[in-house]
Amino acid sequence: MKQKPFIKELKRSHYCGELRASHVHIEVVLMGWIKKIRDHGGVLFIDLKDKTGYTQVILDPKKEELKKVSSFGLESVIAIQGKVCARPKDMVSDKNPTGEVEVKAHRCELLSRADTPPFLVDSQNVSEDLGLKYRYLDLRSQRLQKNMQLAHEVYQEVRKELSQMNFIEVNTPILYKTTPEGARDYLVPSRIHKGSFYALVQSPQTLKQLLMIAGTDRYFQLARCFRDEDLRSDRQPEFTQIDIEMSFVNEEDILQVNTALLKALWKKFKNQTIEAIPTLSYKKAMDEYGTDRPDLRNPLKLKDISKDVSGCGFPVFEQTLKRGGVINTLVLSKQENFSNSRIKKLTAEVQKQGLGGLLWIKSLPDRTLKSPADKWIQKEFLQKLFKAAGGKDQNMVFMLAGLAQEIYPAAHFLIRQLGKEEGLIQDKQDQFVWIREFPLLEYDSRQQRWKACHHPFTAPMDEDLPLLLDQKWNQQTIRAKAYDLVCNGQELAGGSVRIHDSQTQAALFKALSLSPEECQEKFGFFLEALRYGTPPHGGIAWGLDRLLMLLSDTDNIRDVIAFPKTTSGLCLMSSAPSPPQRDQLLELGIQLTKQESGLDK
Ligand code: AMO
Repeated sequence: MKQKPFIKELKRSHYCGELRASHVHIEVVLMGWIKKIRDHGGVLFIDLKDKTGYTQVILDPKKEELKKVSSFGLESVIAIQGKVCARPKDMVSDKNPTGEVEVKAHRCELLSRADTPPFLVDSQNVSEDLGLKYRYLDLRSQRLQKNMQLAHEVYQEVRKELSQMNFIEVNTPILYKTTPEGARDYLVPSRIHKGSFYALVQSPQTLKQLLMIAGTDRYFQLARCFRDEDLRSDRQPEFTQIDIEMSFVNEEDILQVNTALLKALWKKFKNQTIEAIPTLSYKKAMDEYGTDRPDLRNPLKLKDISKDVSGCGFPVFEQTLKRGGVINTLVLSKQENFSNSRIKKLTAEVQKQGLGGLLWIKSLPDRTLKSPADKWIQKEFLQKLFKAAGGKDQNMVFMLAGLAQEIYPAAHFLIRQLGKEEGLIQDKQDQFVWIREFPLLEYDSRQQRWKACHHPFTAPMDEDLPLLLDQKWNQQTIRAKAYDLVCNGQELAGGSVRIHDSQTQAALFKALSLSPEECQEKFGFFLEALRYGTPPHGGIAWGLDRLLMLLSDTDNIRDVIAFPKTTSGLCLMSSAPSPPQRDQLLELGIQLTKQESGLDK
């Protein structure tokens, strides 16, 4: 038998994105994927890539064995051995960090031949579904490689910063019992205890509180959470939190620790120095921006001119005030040419948000005022309203009339839309705000009952505690020791100081119409634990994926998760969820109803 010639196995010496002018003249072995292949009159140019970038490789056409390379195809995996050379001056590329050099290869080995890929890796035009089906190819792109590297570095930095502040990382279970974060649970049937189910944790909320009772003092975890809820571009059914809990602290202490973490992250990953973070009460945020997630990069905010309106003669305003409503205004500068068609479009949108209409006063070039309400409102009164709103020459003043809660969604829409259309959002520096004093309870009109705004372990503000203990929660809003960290109009983190005595906890459960039996069944173990020495404590959880979105400037959460689901919760790559095997169900003691059964007949 003919003996195969002995070929010394090649060992990678450098990454593809690593070579610079300082490497010229050295012999290297690169391994990676073929990104591009060009045949220039017999000379083959290959861009060879790995996660660090790519290098141009030139294959000597005179070598017989190198000729075969032209048949390898894109995304095939090869190893090359060659010498690093300086590129001719006119060939230096400043688009690529390795652009000063190229490798003249004298050996090339095929490590794995690739089929023709379903799309060009790194192309901007891959449809999202195709990208998700072949996620491993999409992940090979520089953009997603960079995001995964960033995620890794953020994990390290968070661990370092929190460890320095005396937090310890504790892993808590994922197979657990229902955790009250307001979404539906993902249930997992137990084989051993047929008919019983675990719930995947929506967050480690009760577990981290139990750790405080256990004396852990300062806990954190990069925690996987599972919520069966409607998905959006910033929500996934399975996501990660930086989950934090601390003992013997008040709200200020918790905000301080998290502000320090935020500053460290923004300095390291965005080179931005974050100054003091402003605070807004929930009520002020709603009244000024129509939302508890205001984007402070946008200078537009509402002004309430209700007290200046009375006697204006305009029936819509008069009736609104009679109903206990308010008149809010928004001012845009340099708008004497604001077109009627724009007003029409905005009005239609505002009406979709539930408001009757959109009124306005425009300052014309001749400094007179124009408004659809000028049939009713005298000139001088119109001037007074315009001024009260803060209107100046060439300004456009929009007016929203209604009950405060009717105005909020329309105002939020209008502020965002006008901010975008007018290019008012300065996006060079991220803008943070702490929103505090959230209501403890909110009424769910669909279920006709009170619900916890944050979750049912959140403490009321001390001043409002008697309202809860006396069960007077529907007479006046009970404010909670709860806070959200908002960045550029997006909720990044949320938390609260917790209830640490069983009497207040029982009052809150009562307010939520949970019967003692239900409380016992759902949280009995937790209520019992509260009785064995609970330190005052509180915490917060950051949406880690949302943090990564902000740090990598993407508005799609799927860009920062290695294997994300679609908005309908599907994994297009593995086709999960999929019907179970018949014997799996038998083992679990589960029978599907006929319509739901996806089993083979
Ligand atoms: P909360 O429910 O507000 O609080 O969640 C905290 C943060 O988690 C992120 N987040 C999500 N990110 C991606 N996909 C989702 N489906 C999703 N849901 C939430 C958000 C949010 O601000 N246990 C409490 C925290 C506490 O009180 O300490 C909790 O989970 O960025």
